[in-house]
Amino acid sequence: MPWSLHGKKRMFNNKKIVLGISGGIAAYKCASLIRLLVKEGAEVKVVMTKSACEFVTPQTLSVLSKNEVLIDFFDANNNWHNHVALAEWADFMLIAPLTANTLAKMAAGLNDNILLSVYLSAKTKTFVAPAMDLDMYKHPTTKQNLEKISSFGNIIIPAETGELASGLVGEGRMAEPENIIAFLKSYFNSSLPLSEKKVMVNAGPTYEAIDPVRFIGNRSSGKMGMAIAESFAAQGAGVTLVLGPGNVTTANKAINIIHVESAEQMFNACVQQFAICHIAVCSAAVADYKPAEVSVKKIKKTGESINLNLVKTKDILLELGKLKKTQCLVGFALETDNIIEYAKEKLKNKNLDLIIANSAAEKGSGFGGDNNKISIIDKHNKITNFELKNKQEVANDIVNYIIEFLK
Ligand code: CTP
Repeated sequence: MPWSLHGKKRMFNNKKIVLGISGGIAAYKCASLIRLLVKEGAEVKVVMTKSACEFVTPQTLSVLSKNEVLIDFFDANNNWHNHVALAEWADFMLIAPLTANTLAKMAAGLNDNILLSVYLSAKTKTFVAPAMDLDMYKHPTTKQNLEKISSFGNIIIPAETGELASGLVGEGRMAEPENIIAFLKSYFNSSLPLSEKKVMVNAGPTYEAIDPVRFIGNRSSGKMGMAIAESFAAQGAGVTLVLGPGNVTTANKAINIIHVESAEQMFNACVQQFAICHIAVCSAAVADYKPAEVSVKKIKKTGESINLNLVKTKDILLELGKLKKTQCLVGFALETDNIIEYAKEKLKNKNLDLIIANSAAEKGSGFGGDNNKISIIDKHNKITNFELKNKQEVANDIVNYIIEFLK
C-alpha cells in the first residue's frame, strides 16, 4: 500500500479516475470530491454535461484536478476530444452526481453528450452516485433503471437520506464526498475475502401500528444484526442493512441502511435487495402478527376490555427461501426450548443454507443485551457450537463461518 508524506496510507495512489458530472445541485460537492480523491493520490480527469456547468464551473474543477475539463466533443479551437482515449486511460469511472436523466440514458444506451460517450466506451468499472429528489428516487422507473445499470456491472453508491434541494426531506441526496471515498476504499480493499460480494442483512424489531399513537413491537435492539453488517463490511462486502426502528447506529459510512418500521415495509425492502445480493442474513425479529385493521383515529378508553384482532404477517425468510437462486441464505432461530430441533425445522422449511440458533432462555444471551451464545447448523445438519461472547465477536464468528462455508 502506497504512503503519503505524512505517513498515511494513500488508497488511490496513481489511480486514474474519470469523474463524470451530470446536472444536479449536488454537482457543487464535486469540488471537495476531487480534492479528496487527489489527496488519496488519484489523478482525476473531469467530463461534465452542459447542465452540470450551471451548478459548478469547469474552471474550478480544472484548477482542482489540474487537468482540462471536457464538456463538448470539440473545444473552442475546434479540436476533437478523443473520448475513447479518455475511457481507455481510466482505471475506473465515477459518475457523481448521477441525475435521473443521465441514469435513464445509461440504462437505454443513449449517447448525446461526451459524458455518455466516455461511459459507453469505458471497459473499466463505473461507479455511480445517484442524486435526485425523493419522489424521483422512489419512482419505479428510477428503481428499474438502477437495477438495469447494476446488471451491466456498474456499482451503485447508494443515495443518502436528508434535506433535499426541494426543501423536502428524504432519500435521494448524493452520498457525501467523504462517504463516496469510504465506499470506494471498501470496494477496492480487494485483499479482503468478500470484496466481490453484496450482502443484505435485516435487523431490529418491527412495529405494527394499532392506531396513530400505538403499536405492537418487541424488545429486539438490532445490535446483533448491526454487528453482523459491520463484520461483513470489514471483510470487504458491499452491505445493505434493512433496519427496523430503534437506536442502534454505526460509524461505518459504507453500510447502506434502509430504515423501515413495519413487517410489510421490511418485507418489500428485503425482497428488492435479495434479488441483487450474494448473501442474505435475516436476524430481524419480525412481528408474526399485526392488527387486522389500523384505526385511523386514536382508540378511546371506553370499555373495561378491548379485543385486538391480529392477522399473520408475511414470513420474509420463508419468501426469500422460495425466491432463492444462487444466494447463500442465513436465518436465525430464537427459541426457549428444543432449540436445535426447532432450528433444524426452520432450516428445512425455509430453504436455508445455514441457521443460527440462539436461546432466549440462556442467561446473558439473546435479545437486547450485549452478549450471545449461538450454534450454527448447516443444510447438511452439521452443528457447530460457540461459547458465550459479545455480539461483535459472535458476528465475526458468523461471518467467518459463512466465508468458509462459501469456499
Ligand atoms: N422471520 C421472518 N419473517 C417473519 C418471522 C420470522 O423473516 N414474519 C425470520 C426471522 O428473521 C428469523 C427466522 O425467520 O431469521 C426465524 O424467526 P423465529 O422468530 O425464530 O421463528 P418463526 O419463523 O417466527 O416461528 P416461531 O415464532 O413459531 O418460532
